[in-house]
Amino acid sequence: MKVKNFFVAGIIASAMFITGATAGFASSDKELCSKQKVNFLKIKMNNGLLPNDEFAPYNFKEVAGAATEMIAVEGKRTHDDKTHAAISKMVSVHLTHIQEAAAGESEGAVEVAGHALRFLELSCKACHKVYDTERKNRKMSP
Ligand code: HEC
Repeated sequence: MKVKNFFVAGIIASAMFITGATAGFASSDKELCSKQKVNFLKIKMNNGLLPNDEFAPYNFKEVAGAATEMIAVEGKRTHDDKTHAAISKMVSVHLTHIQEAAAGESEGAVEVAGHALRFLELSCKACHKVYDTERKNRKMSP
């Protein structure tokens, strides 16, 4: 009985240690970006080309919700250098414009969100370009 209790306690303790250790790790760009991708596509589907189309209406709530989640995810990035931090900040700024416009649902909100979406996409790509290049450069150096 005592041995069994010791075992159970041991298992619980290891489980707690493992969850604690996992929660303590900072998420990588890859993990954060795969979350960003899902919401980015949601916003992109609402491209604002047909704001009053009854078959494909602009879903303000979906866009505002997706942008809100993305701002939170973007805030979780850890930065090793200033460029990384600066590009991530730009992503957050464009997301804030989308979030505010969509949540407000005012006249012209679709156009404002669509405009910010173009810049958002460029900012996401900017980071990928910079860090792809860095990876390749590192491989080339001895
Ligand atoms: C601060 C830099 C940075 C920003 C900003 C950024 N990314 Fe990324 N992203 C990366 C890096 C670095 C990788 C490559 C990760 C790897 O392969 O290890 C990546 C990979 C990805 C991937 C591939 C993930 C996979 O499963 O392999 C997707 C999709 C992606 N990003 C989408 C986005 C979107 C959408 C945005 C904008 C909302 C964004 N990213 C903003 C740095 C960034």
